[in-house]
Amino acid sequence: MSVNPDHNLQTSATDSSGAKLPRHVAFIMDGNGRWATARGLPRTEGHRQGLEALRKVIRHAGKVGIDVITIYSFSSENWSRPEAEVSFLMGLLRRFVQRDLSELHEANVKIRIIGGRRDLEPGILKLLKEAEDLTRNNSGLELVVAFNYGARDEILRAAQALAQKVADGVFNPEDVTEDALSGELDTSGLPDPDLIIRTSGEMRLSNFLLWQAAYSEFYFCDLLWPDFDEAAFDQALDCFGARERRYGGVSAKTF
Ligand code: IPE
Ligand code: IPE
Ligand code: MG
Repeated sequence: MSVNPDHNLQTSATDSSGAKLPRHVAFIMDGNGRWATARGLPRTEGHRQGLEALRKVIRHAGKVGIDVITIYSFSSENWSRPEAEVSFLMGLLRRFVQRDLSELHEANVKIRIIGGRRDLEPGILKLLKEAEDLTRNNSGLELVVAFNYGARDEILRAAQALAQKVADGVFNPEDVTEDALSGELDTSGLPDPDLIIRTSGEMRLSNFLLWQAAYSEFYFCDLLWPDFDEAAFDQALDCFGARERRYGGVSAKTF
């Protein structure tokens, strides 16, 4: 896989045609199972094909000049799936890191993992740490992988960290501000997602980035994730370019 290595984090908010470009795009990669079932294949085959779609998306994001992409790869609720599917997904993560990590590193991609780490198997933890450590100083596309991620769990952990600071006397209750809470989230330091894309026709967040999505634009498409490609990505970006973000204000057009 090749990603544009010269991608600059300080890129402007427009593409070469002058259209507004999101700085951070988050993906809820949904529909792998249905893709496979529709073809009479086991659900795991959908996950395998989904990884191909992900490779396309990472490459394309680097090419068009997006700063950050977040991918929902495994939710804190996905452990409730059949054991065989969960273990296949863990194997896929392992293979992704083993096969793609060096290439992502060469492409100057910086990897960050978000999600709970406490009960993860040591082998998986080591893999995640290796991906982050190797790419820590890269300055290109930032790839945020939401693994064992649940937004309520993330917010709870942040609230507990702040409560601990108050209990220790390091913080007063009034120091618990939006910035202080944001700073304790796994996404600390990242810009909020400008655009959240969910495939497969489902229109919900499924416990993804609940805090960070306060002013995100949403894009839902019927394509199943393994069918999502560069053209579909461009369509979502075009749609974003035509949106007007008001943040509670009034339209510039009304003046
Ligand atoms: C998304 O596809 C991948 C993960 C949640 C890991 P699904 O596996 O949810 O596919 P559907 O929604 O059952 O079709
Ligand atoms: C959300 O998809 C999680 C990921 C894409 C990793 P799900 O398929 O798990 O969500 P629900 O169950 O349809 O809400
Ligand atoms: Mg699903």
